[in-house]
Amino acid sequence: MSFNYTDIRAQFPILSRQVNGKPLVYLDSAASAQKPRAVIDAMVHAMEHSYANVHRGLHTLANETTDAYEAAREAARRLVNAGSVNEIVFTKGATEAINLVAASVGLTLSAGDEIIVSEMEHHANLIPWHFLRERKGVVLRFVPVTDEGALDLDAYEALLGPRTKVVALTHMSNVTGAVSDTARIVAGARRVDAMVLLDGCQSIAHQPVDVVALDCDFFVFSSHKLYGPTGFGVLYGKADRLAEMAPYQGGGEMIGIVSMERITYADPPHRFEAGTPPILEAIGFGAAVEWLETVDRAAAAAHEHALYARAVEGLRDLNGLRILGTTPDKGAILSFTLEGAHAHDVAQILDRYGVAVRAGTHCAEPLMRRFGVTSSARASFALYNTPEEADAFVDALHRASSFFA
Ligand code: ALA
Repeated sequence: MSFNYTDIRAQFPILSRQVNGKPLVYLDSAASAQKPRAVIDAMVHAMEHSYANVHRGLHTLANETTDAYEAAREAARRLVNAGSVNEIVFTKGATEAINLVAASVGLTLSAGDEIIVSEMEHHANLIPWHFLRERKGVVLRFVPVTDEGALDLDAYEALLGPRTKVVALTHMSNVTGAVSDTARIVAGARRVDAMVLLDGCQSIAHQPVDVVALDCDFFVFSSHKLYGPTGFGVLYGKADRLAEMAPYQGGGEMIGIVSMERITYADPPHRFEAGTPPILEAIGFGAAVEWLETVDRAAAAAHEHALYARAVEGLRDLNGLRILGTTPDKGAILSFTLEGAHAHDVAQILDRYGVAVRAGTHCAEPLMRRFGVTSSARASFALYNTPEEADAFVDALHRASSFFA
């Protein structure tokens, strides 16, 4: 394991392109990260050399592809330190993973049961629970967010009660970058016998994750923010939780026996993987995990934090800048507003300088309301970014600000 950002960067072909006549400065990895050569090659190799449907065939290509697909499950298990591959369900993304849990657990909930989410969740971890509010009459309780952009855990503890059935909270905010105190979240939920789902969409890319240490019931993430392909995600579920859950979608491969009169279901994880899965995406994801295993992730996280700190320092004197999310324990995510400027305009001007940032609500409308803004811009740093890029962003933002002065 090693970490050298120059060597890392060289493995991402797209990072050497130009945008608007300037070198690309890609600071939108929190939305979707770029892909290393290892991932691209693994997917192309599968299509060129060994591709067929999985779990269905007896011929050589089917067996080879099934082995590669299941190797990706073992890679996911290693990544989050799950006890068994049977606790790893493949989905088409974190959104589908949360929809799966909400739909299945929702079958066991009654009107008046309570689900705790927060003001800080992105929509993937809000709308599936709102469905249960609309369809089952469950009550959503919202953990408030502090001025610094973290969960108010005193308020969280006050929300817990005998009707609390599910606690579904972010592990790292996609807007403020705040890292949640999961020990306190899980301990509170255990006191009222509620299950805990942690949304790891951001945390998985920035820090090691150990679901045994977290002791959560569910942990979800997408592959595309972890340098893997889109259309693929992972639901980790504790074995006893998954065993008691009804299937989410019906179709091939999730069944035991099918007759005109009755059906039986496969055991987890296959119970939750109806139909032909995203095979090439699983292979690409497996390659992304294997590639990450060659990287010193602690050094990568320190590098990302250094870039974040460098950018914040460079922007210290910028008039009208407001940073959303100032907790000390945070990921390298820099969301901000610029007085008198709409975030979309800021992003478009930065793009002229080759700098790619996200702008809008970041799929987190309640949080925008909490901060009293309609939108913000967001620069997110990844392991392939450089100090020169942090400086280029700072310089471009200073220039952009003069358009609004
Ligand atoms: N949730 C993703 C983001 O934060 C799409 O940009």
